[in-house]
Amino acid sequence: AAAAAYEAEDATVSRGRVDANHAGFTGSGFVNYDNSAGSYVQWTVDAARAGRVTLKLRFANGTPADRPMDIIVNGAPAADDRAFAGTGSWASWSTATVTTDLRAGTNIVRATATTADGGPNVDHLAVDTAPTTGSTPV
Ligand code: GCU
Repeated sequence: AAAAAYEAEDATVSRGRVDANHAGFTGSGFVNYDNSAGSYVQWTVDAARAGRVTLKLRFANGTPADRPMDIIVNGAPAADDRAFAGTGSWASWSTATVTTDLRAGTNIVRATATTADGGPNVDHLAVDTAPTTGSTPV
C-alpha cells in the first residue's frame, strides 16, 4: 500500500529549527529539535478512511544516548517514551514504527521530546496504510 510522506520541515515545529547540514534527508532538510523537553514536531495527516496504520518516523541520532519521544495521535499517546536510540552518526538515518488508528479526515500526529536532550533529528513521517493484521482484503 502507499506510504504517504510528510516532511518534518513542512510541519509545525515548536522549539526546533530546520537544518540541512547532515546528508541523507528527504525533501529540503530535517528538524533539529532544541535540546529541551517538550520540543515537538506536529504533522497534519489526512486519512481517506478510519483504520489502523503504521507511522514511520525517519530520524538520526548521532549520540550514544537515547532521544526519547512520545508519539501523540489526536491528543492520545500512541507510543510513550519511544527510545530513538543512537544511529551511529547524524547522517545515518533509521526508521521507527508506531502502529495506531487514524480517523477519517484530519489527524494530528505530534512527536514530543521527553528529556532535556530534546528529540533526535527528524526527517519525515510516512503513513503506511498496509494492513497490519496479515489478512487478505476480500
Ligand atoms: C549537533 C548536530 C545537530 C543535532 C544536535 C543535537 O549539534 O549537528 O544536528 O540536532 O547535535 O544534539 O541535538
